[in-house]
Amino acid sequence: MRKAVTAAALAIAAAAAGGQAHAQSPVARGDYLVNTVMTCQNCHTPKGPNGDIAEMAFAGGLKFDEPPFTVTASNITPDRETGIGGWTEAQLKTFMTTGVRPDGVPVAPLMPTGYYKILTPGDLDAIVAYLRTLKPVRNAVPAPVYRAPMAQEVFPGAEKPADPASLNDRVRRGFYLATIAHCMECHTPMDKGRHLYTTKLGVGGHKFPGPWGESVARNITQHSTAGIGAWSDAEIKRAITHGVRKDGSKLKPPMAFGRYAKMTEADTDAIVAWLRTVPANE
Ligand code: HEC
Ligand code: HEC
Repeated sequence: MRKAVTAAALAIAAAAAGGQAHAQSPVARGDYLVNTVMTCQNCHTPKGPNGDIAEMAFAGGLKFDEPPFTVTASNITPDRETGIGGWTEAQLKTFMTTGVRPDGVPVAPLMPTGYYKILTPGDLDAIVAYLRTLKPVRNAVPAPVYRAPMAQEVFPGAEKPADPASLNDRVRRGFYLATIAHCMECHTPMDKGRHLYTTKLGVGGHKFPGPWGESVARNITQHSTAGIGAWSDAEIKRAITHGVRKDGSKLKPPMAFGRYAKMTEADTDAIVAWLRTVPANE
């Protein structure tokens, strides 16, 4: 009898945790995804001395100068001329999951669309619904320059939309969240323009120069010395949400700790549960 009651209580708790997303309005869910886990503003909002320039939110941001391209993160507010106000919802959804714009021109793979194919239909709708509510800001960003052909690089496991029911499983939800957060894009080294996802997943190494000097993505595999295998769950969560390492030292940008700090406890727990499954490697 007692066992049955416990099982029923657990089932209700699980339904509440899994169903949380669905109880929210699409716009609220989109706001949550865009502004915490997916960190769109990290690239799409221009920065001043005090961080994001609020009145320019989503109006176009960072410039990236790499061998194959020179691009500026686009104005993604609904301004019709300088933003994406002229795109239909269907065009925006196609773009988010394929990286191809309505005019047929593919985006530089730096825009992490290869991680967004996994989005559930509900989450994709929610993101689009939220983007539609943004204040239109007039700001023309420089046109992209492409010097070599580019292909969308799809993160292994992100090939198709996730089944929403499967996300009640903590590790699977963690994988889903870590994928749309494109953690492994920064944390996996590249060779000849491709990420080494199958052989070097999570071993780190990318260098990020910036006003902070330079930061180097760390090894976030379960390796006990090179990685975070010997860290407690709480230590890993603190690193993700507050940018503080196991030894108490501070981590540098561009990882968006301040945004991850606003993720729900259940979501950060799920990400840590998935990180525990990343094989030790260095
Ligand atoms: C790592 C940086 C980065 C992140 C994170 C990022 N983007 Fe982008 N995005 C870019 C860059 C850079 C471009 C433009 C690249 C180019 O012109 O080839 C772009 C282009 C776009 C475009 C195309 C707009 C146009 O006019 O062509 C849309 C829409 C867009 N991003 C939406 C988003 C959304 C929504 C999110 C979050 C869910 C997001 N981006 C996250 C860097 C990023
Ligand atoms: C834009 C690139 C970028 C993204 C996206 C990113 N990280 Fe990081 N991360 C870094 C860099 C760079 C460092 C190291 C900073 C330093 O050493 O000062 C780091 C450090 C860490 C650390 C600390 C490890 C240690 O040994 O100190 C953890 C844990 C971590 N990241 C996990 C994640 C997870 C989980 C995600 C996705 C939710 C993520 N990162 C997304 C760039 C990124």
